[in-house]
Amino acid sequence: MNQTSTPLIQAIQMHLNQDSTSFHVPGHKNGLVFHSGLFEDFKQVLRYDVTELEGLDDLHSPIGPILEAQQLAATFYRAGHTFFLVGGSTVGNLAMVYAICNPGDTVLVQRNAHKSVFHALKLANVKPILLAPEYDKETGHPIGVATKTFQIALSSYPEAKAVLLTYPNYYGVGLDPKEIITVAKEKNLYVLVDEAHGAHFQISDSFPPSALSLGADIVVQSAHKTLPSLTMGSYLHVHPNQVNKVEKLQDALGMFQSSSPSYLILASLDAARAYAEMLDKQRIISILAGVRTFKRELATIGQIEVIEWQDERYHCDPLKVTIKSLSNLTGYQLQHIFNQQGIYTELADLNHVLFVLGLEELTDIREMIEKLASILSVYPVVKAKEPVPFVGEKVSSLTLSYEEVAMRSTKRVPLAKAVNQIAAESVIPYPPGVPILLPGEKVKKEVINQIVEIERAGAHFQGHQRLNEGILIVELED
Ligand SMILES: Cc1ncc(COP(=O)(O)O)c(C=O)c1O
Repeated sequence: MNQTSTPLIQAIQMHLNQDSTSFHVPGHKNGLVFHSGLFEDFKQVLRYDVTELEGLDDLHSPIGPILEAQQLAATFYRAGHTFFLVGGSTVGNLAMVYAICNPGDTVLVQRNAHKSVFHALKLANVKPILLAPEYDKETGHPIGVATKTFQIALSSYPEAKAVLLTYPNYYGVGLDPKEIITVAKEKNLYVLVDEAHGAHFQISDSFPPSALSLGADIVVQSAHKTLPSLTMGSYLHVHPNQVNKVEKLQDALGMFQSSSPSYLILASLDAARAYAEMLDKQRIISILAGVRTFKRELATIGQIEVIEWQDERYHCDPLKVTIKSLSNLTGYQLQHIFNQQGIYTELADLNHVLFVLGLEELTDIREMIEKLASILSVYPVVKAKEPVPFVGEKVSSLTLSYEEVAMRSTKRVPLAKAVNQIAAESVIPYPPGVPILLPGEKVKKEVINQIVEIERAGAHFQGHQRLNEGILIVELED
C-alpha cells in the first residue's frame, strides 16, 4: 500500500461520484436537508458525512478502507495495530484501561492525569496508586514522574498490573519515560500512555520521541490537538508486542464508541496521517524557524517572558509556546486581553498562557505583536511570582475506594469545612481537565487554598459553576 494514499477518503469520494440518492441515515440526506443558516457553509462537507454503506466499511469490524487507513497509520507510527477513535483520547483512555485491567487490579497512575484517565480507572473499578509528578521550578508545572517515585511505588505495590503515564503534559513538556518503561517491562507491568498532546511526535526528530518508540504497550493520541484533523479524531496505538490485546481493545471500543461513528472524523484521521507523512525535513525546519521568530517577537514585550525550558531532563515540544505574566495580570487576565484582540490561545493558568502552534509556517506576526505590546504597555512590569513548591507524599492511595464512595451518603459543605474530609466528587479546572481533587481523596488545606486562589484568578471549573456553594464530601459515621 502506498503511504501517501488515503483509502478511506478515496472510498467516500468514489461513493459520492456515483450520484447516489440517500434513503438512509443521517437525516440531512447528503446535505440536502439542513437549516438555512448553515446550509451554504456546510453543504460540501455534509456530503462526506456518510454511514456504513456498501464499500464504506464499518469501524467496529473493519475489513475494507477503514482497515486499510488504520494499517497505514500503524505503519507510520510503527505500531502493531492502530485504531481510529471518534470520541477523542477520552474514549481511548477508557478503552485502554478497560481492556487491560480487571476489577480490583492495582494500577500506578500519574497524579496529574486528565480526568478521562480517572474516569477510566473508576469504570474499570481498579485500585489507583497515585504517583506525584516532579514540578518544574520556574513555572510550577507538573512535568512527569521520576523513576525513583515509580520504583518506590513498585516496591510498595509489587502486585501492580499496569502503570499509566501522561506524556507530555499540556504544555508539551515531559520527563523522558524511557527508564520507567524499561523497569516496568522487566517487572511485567503493562505501560499505558496518554500521549494526547503528541500525535505529531512521530513526524520528525525535532519533536520529542513518541512513547511507542520508547517501548510503551498502548498509547493514545489526540490527532485533533496537534495534527490537522477534526475535533475528537484520535488514535489508539498498540505496540507490535501486544497485538494479542487487539481483540479486547476492539471489544472495549465497541462499548465506548458510537455505533454511528462520524465519517467526517474518520476521513480526517486518514487525511491527518497522510499530511504528517508528507511533511519532509525541510518543511519542518521552515516551520520551526517560524516558531523561533514568533518567540523572539513575543519576547520583545516587556510584560511577558517566553519560557525556555532549561532542564536537560525534559523533552519539549517546539510547537507549544508558554509565556509568563510579568505584570500584575494573572495568566487568565492576560489570556482575556489577548482574546479581546482576536488572539485566542489554548490555555491559561495562574501565571501563564499557552500558545499551540500548527504544522504550518506562521505569517503576519509582527503587527499582532505590536498591537499586544501597545495594550500591555500600561501595565507596570513586576517581579514574577515564585511557584509554591509541592508538598505531599510521592506515592499515595485513595482514602476510600470508588465503591466505598459510591455506597456512602454525601453532603455539600463550604470549601473551608471540607478540609480533612473525604471528597465525594472531583474538582476540575478546565482546561487542562486535570482534577485537583479526586473522589475518595482526603481534602488537604493546601488543595482548598489552591482552588480558592485559582478561582479568584479566573479559572473555570467544570461542573462547579458555583464553587461558593461548596463541594461534595462523604458523610462518615462518628
Ligand atoms: C492529557 C490529556 N489526555 C486526554 C485528553 C482528552 O482528549 P480528547 O479531548 O481528545 O478527548 C486531554 C484533553 O485535553 C488531555 O489534555
